Amino acid sequence: MDRGRFAEPLKLRGVEIANRVWMSPMCQYSAGQDGVPTNWHRVHYGSRAVGGAGMIMVESTAVGPRHRTTPNDLGIWSAEQVAGHRMLAAQIKELGSVAAVQLNSAGRKSSHRQPWVQSGQNSAVPVQGGGWLPLAPSARAFGKLTTPVEMTAADIDGVVSAFVAATVNAHHAGYDVVEIHAAHGYMLHQFLSPVSNARQDEHGGPLESRMRLPLRVAKAVREAFPPEKPVFVRMTATGWIEGGISLDEAKVFAQRLGRLGIDLLDVTSGALAADAPPPNRKGLNLDFAESLKEAAGIAVAPVGQMADPDLLRTVFETSSVDAVIVGRALLLDPYYALRLAGGRPKEYWPSQYHRAL
Ligand SMILES: Cc1cc2nc3c(=O)[nH]c(=O)nc-3n(C[C@H](O)[C@H](O)[C@H](O)COP(=O)(O)O)c2cc1C
Repeated sequence: MDRGRFAEPLKLRGVEIANRVWMSPMCQYSAGQDGVPTNWHRVHYGSRAVGGAGMIMVESTAVGPRHRTTPNDLGIWSAEQVAGHRMLAAQIKELGSVAAVQLNSAGRKSSHRQPWVQSGQNSAVPVQGGGWLPLAPSARAFGKLTTPVEMTAADIDGVVSAFVAATVNAHHAGYDVVEIHAAHGYMLHQFLSPVSNARQDEHGGPLESRMRLPLRVAKAVREAFPPEKPVFVRMTATGWIEGGISLDEAKVFAQRLGRLGIDLLDVTSGALAADAPPPNRKGLNLDFAESLKEAAGIAVAPVGQMADPDLLRTVFETSSVDAVIVGRALLLDPYYALRLAGGRPKEYWPSQYHRAL
């Protein structure tokens, strides 16, 4: 396709991103119990950086041991983990991409198996088998996972400080961007949604109360990250579930994030409950992203079945979104972004590969 807007750089705060097709965070469940990035992570992310994605968002990375989804998640709370991330971020940048990391607390979607073991995300690792008791807004289980412990006020404060420490660590590791995960049914989404949040205190009930922790985290992370580096939030535009978050609520949340200085909304939807998958539809979050951009007045990038080149051509010609985020197409093909770009390949494929063109 015509390289057009695809190849336009985007500047957010002090960070220049070379193009508008970015890699989505995708957990590899491939760290050891120490949560340190491995050769798998370096080769996996390095290949996609060589492959021309403007930004590499390193997968959901836990802000503390109890915040992991599985015992094989990456973490960013220990010095050893930070040293591993430093190598990973440096490599991504050396290979021409912007290095970003997604910070997460899994809440009730925690202590499960790797997706390829037994029934994966719906199969609990019990405490006696190396798992842990998940923390969540309310004692409501996700699918067949262990019923979580309802969080105390001290647990809630602990989440904010864990996100802040992780943000400072991400900066020291050399990441250009951090993303707060507030979607896909993880802890911050669990607070936002009445389906998973039945609290009677100042964190439950009306939207203002359900947003309290996610907004506290967003404010604290923004304050902890240097002003020249952008902070993103991955947020859900709608729950696709009876009683879940509506688009109107998402717009209010988006506006509040904008006022706190969040730079970009990474727009997704659904995945709060095991039995409520999002619809299988091309570009399903594109219109939502446009609405949230209008509501919040900040940059947006939709994710979810955005990889079809015809769809992307239309998006880059007609849509107000600032970038698109691609997941599975980049698992199958590290060079997806380079192949997509069309035009004169020798102008942008790595010189080392020119004899193949
Ligand atoms: C293997 C795999 C791991 C994923 N891990 C994460 C993750 O760590 N954080 C996240 O926000 N989304 C995660 N997702 C969701 C993707 O980032 C993306 O939102 C989703 O796959 C839809 O985009 P796509 O249609 O381009 O694949 C994961 C998806 C896959 C396939």
